[in-house]
Amino acid sequence: MAVDLKTADEIKKMRVAGRLAAEVLEMIEPYVVVGISTEELNQICHDYMVDVQKSIPAPLNYHGFPKSICTSVNQVICHGIPSEKKVLKNGDIVNLDITVIKDGYFGDTSKMFGVGDVPFHAQRLMETTQIALFKAIEIVKPGTRLGDIGHVIQQYAESNHYSVVREYCGHGIGTEFHTDPQILHFGRPDTGMVLKEGMTFTIEPMLNAGKPHTKLRKDGWTVETRDGRLSAQWEHTLAVTADGVEVLTARNEENF
Ligand code: MF3
Ligand code: CO
Ligand code: CO
Repeated sequence: MAVDLKTADEIKKMRVAGRLAAEVLEMIEPYVVVGISTEELNQICHDYMVDVQKSIPAPLNYHGFPKSICTSVNQVICHGIPSEKKVLKNGDIVNLDITVIKDGYFGDTSKMFGVGDVPFHAQRLMETTQIALFKAIEIVKPGTRLGDIGHVIQQYAESNHYSVVREYCGHGIGTEFHTDPQILHFGRPDTGMVLKEGMTFTIEPMLNAGKPHTKLRKDGWTVETRDGRLSAQWEHTLAVTADGVEVLTARNEENF
């Protein structure tokens, strides 16, 4: 497994792409309300990327994916396809996953939004998943191993009585969307690849309220929980620095 290490110049370009992806999530926030369809959210994000940012929405036509962002509502774990038939209702939770390409480099990030009044159990799932991502980011530095990252996420999720999705994972990223290494969100400490300065990858844990098992809808993309219970996901693109980590997709509301 060959993992390429980015130069300072390449990280600079990834910082730009990462920031643009974060800005799409900041821009779309006020639109995520009761009554909007996921296709409308897709359209607003698409136009912002193409017309304002002059960036390329990476999901569009990626292995045949038909839209510019992923919209995953309630029991949908990831890769939900925006649709005008999917209208957000009070109490829904939705993940918007944004990937832009700028100057040949990718930035990939997602967050959860609550729609209207969200039940406490759904709020708690979203927050726990975000904290699991934060805990993983906190230990990223040269010398940390991939198993340590997976372990931190799994440990925190399971101690909160949630399960971790196994079939989908984080990934290396750069001039391609998905590269080695795979970043599993479960694992054992002191195992797996050792992180080095210049690695760039995503961490994107998916936590389920019920069992970890997934099923793929007939559309070939939408991944749902098999038991129909809620799922949440948060994602950042990261660069390993000399002594820690840089969150390339940090939003203004975050303090890394
Ligand atoms: N953004 C997703 C990820 O985090 C990948 C989406 S691929 C698509 O890796 F084709 F579904 F858009
Ligand atoms: Co990703
Ligand atoms: Co993503």
